[in-house]
Amino acid sequence: MRGNPVNYDKKQFPIYPSNLDWDLKRYLDLIPGKEVLDLGIGHGKNSIPLVKLGYNVTGVDYSAKCIEICKNACPELNLIQSDIRTFLIKKNKYDLISSRCVLHFFHKDDSYEIINNIKNCLKSNGLVYIHVFSSDDPRLKLHANSKDFEVLENNILHNTVNDTYISFFTKNEILDLFKNFKTISITEDYSLDIVGGSPHYSGVIKYIGQKILY
Ligand SMILES: C[S@@+](CC[C@H](N)C(=O)[O-])C[C@H]1O[C@@H](n2cnc3c(N)ncnc32)[C@H](O)[C@@H]1O
Repeated sequence: MRGNPVNYDKKQFPIYPSNLDWDLKRYLDLIPGKEVLDLGIGHGKNSIPLVKLGYNVTGVDYSAKCIEICKNACPELNLIQSDIRTFLIKKNKYDLISSRCVLHFFHKDDSYEIINNIKNCLKSNGLVYIHVFSSDDPRLKLHANSKDFEVLENNILHNTVNDTYISFFTKNEILDLFKNFKTISITEDYSLDIVGGSPHYSGVIKYIGQKILY
């Protein structure tokens, strides 16, 4: 495990209304059962609506503040405060494992390890849902020119001030990481974000895959 986790206890991030992302909503019928794991649940953007739809959701987050916000908003959530880099995922328990906008906050060695654990532990026919920063995100170049960051190979930046990492992915990299999964949906967004701090462009890859055992 490399570096510190980003501290969302001190960080402001947008509180989106708790409604399901369109792509997850579209493929809900493919989820084989009701057990969901949300790695880096934040404020429960997708997880709270999933509870309301009858899913049994376990949310993991490093931030005590996020856990508290989720607990107050939806007491039915099972909440665990933990670093997802050390969290042991129960094998063959989950029908959907989601990690939305989290896996880019690590050195890729750690992101890849979490992805491998997700793949191994997911139930057969289960779905994975992830969002990660794409290599088109302008912050890759912006941070690379800042004195606070050192540039490592494979689109990884190391913030030497607080010893955190930020990684940027390509579509092919994600498809390769999930090469033994069935791709249900992969999209790349490049859009202006006007709610997450000062307005900035953001590049995000969104992937939904299914674990099919042939
Ligand atoms: C950008 S927010 C995304 C929250 C939520 N998944 C969403 O899409 O709205 C990133 C979340 O990941 C959590 N996080 C970051 N690093 C973590 C770590 N190492 N272990 C557990 N949670 C972590 C943060 O506390 C924060 O809640």
